[in-house]
Amino acid sequence: MPPRFPIEVSPSSHPTPTDERSRVLASALGFGQIFTDHMVLIPFREREGWLPGALQPYAPIQIDPAAAVLHYGQSVFEGFKAFRQVTGDIACFRPDANAKRFQHSARRLAMPEMPIDMFLQAAEILIQQDRDWVPSTRGTSLYLRPLLIATECSLGVRPSREYQFILIASPAGDYFRGGIKPVSVWVCDNYVRAAPGGTGEAKFGGNYAASLIAQAEATQRGCAQVVWLDAVHRDQIEEMGGMNIFFVLESNGQTTLVTPKLSGSLLPGITRESLLLIGPKLGYAVEERTITLAEWISSAQAGQMTEAFACGTAAVITPIGSMHGQHGETLIGDGQGGPVAQALRDYLLAIQYGEAQDLLGWMHRVC
Ligand SMILES: Cc1ncc(COP(=O)(O)O)c(C=O)c1O
Repeated sequence: MPPRFPIEVSPSSHPTPTDERSRVLASALGFGQIFTDHMVLIPFREREGWLPGALQPYAPIQIDPAAAVLHYGQSVFEGFKAFRQVTGDIACFRPDANAKRFQHSARRLAMPEMPIDMFLQAAEILIQQDRDWVPSTRGTSLYLRPLLIATECSLGVRPSREYQFILIASPAGDYFRGGIKPVSVWVCDNYVRAAPGGTGEAKFGGNYAASLIAQAEATQRGCAQVVWLDAVHRDQIEEMGGMNIFFVLESNGQTTLVTPKLSGSLLPGITRESLLLIGPKLGYAVEERTITLAEWISSAQAGQMTEAFACGTAAVITPIGSMHGQHGETLIGDGQGGPVAQALRDYLLAIQYGEAQDLLGWMHRVC
C-alpha cells in the first residue's frame, strides 16, 4: 500500500553492526535502556497542520531553550509493543487504541490530535526499518514510544503553535528486575496523583514528574510501586505508578476480577480494557467499581481476596504479593501470586505472540 502521509526515509549510513545488535538482543534487555537505529519525526505548525515527516538515524534532537515544553510542560506520550510472532512476522498489540488515547491526551493538553492513520504509519515505517531489532525470545518485544512536545519559542502561557512528534523504539525484556516475581506496593497517603478535572486521564509527562517523589518514598520503604488513592475521599484505590490494578475475589465458587472504575482521574489502560474482555473468556466475572482501601484490607484478611495484580503494557501482568501503608502490612493470598493472574498473563501473551487465535482482532501485522 502506498504511504498515506509523506514520511521521507533516510536510513542510517552506520547502523549497529549485526554481531553487536545480536549481542545486545541476547543480553538482559530490561526496559527502556537500549534504542534502535532510527526514529521518526513529524512536525506540526498551527497554520499548516502536520508537515512531511522523516525517518532518520536515531540522534539527539535540537531544541530551542525558549521551547514551550521546557517551561510549561506541554508533552504527551504513548507506549505500545511490537511482538515477533511465532511465524517470524512482526505485529503490534492494539496500536489503534494507543493512537486514540494519544489523541485524547493531546486534546486535554490543548495540543493537536495526530490522525490515527498517521500514528500507525509512523509506527509501521519505524518497525519495518528496524525490524531486526525486534527480539524473538518469549517475554521480549520492541517497545514503541511516541511523544508529542510543544516546540514554539515563546514564554507566553498559552498553547504552543508548533509541535514535534517523535517516535523511538526500544527492545524490551523484563520491566521489573527479577522477572515476574510478586511485588510489594506502598499505598501513598501524603500525595495524590490526579484530581477530578485534572490530567490523570491523559498520558501527560507532568503526571509522571509529580509521581516521582511518592515512587521514591515507596522505594525507600522497600516497595516496588506506589498505589494511588483518589484525591477527594483519599480512600478509594485508583491505580499504580505506571499500571492499573485488579483484585481477584472468590465467592460461592465464582471468581471475579474487580478493577477501579474509570473515575476521570485514572489512566484508561489498554491492558486493563483487554483483561476486562479476556476475563469472561476464561470464566471470570468482571466488575468495574469503587474499591476502598478498607475493603482491600478486610477482604484480603478474610481470604476472599485471593490475588491482586498490576497490569500495563510495560510489565504485562505483575502479581502483588503484599500491600503496605500506614496501617501496616497486608498479605494478599499467600504472597506468592496465584493462578488467575498467571492464566490471564499466559492468555494475553499467547495472543500477543500469535500463539492463540486473535479473536478480537487486536494484532496489527506490520511485516
Ligand atoms: C499511570 C498509568 N496507568 C496505567 C497504565 C497502563 O496502561 P496500558 O495498559 O495502556 O499500558 C500506564 C501505562 O501506560 C500508566 O502510565
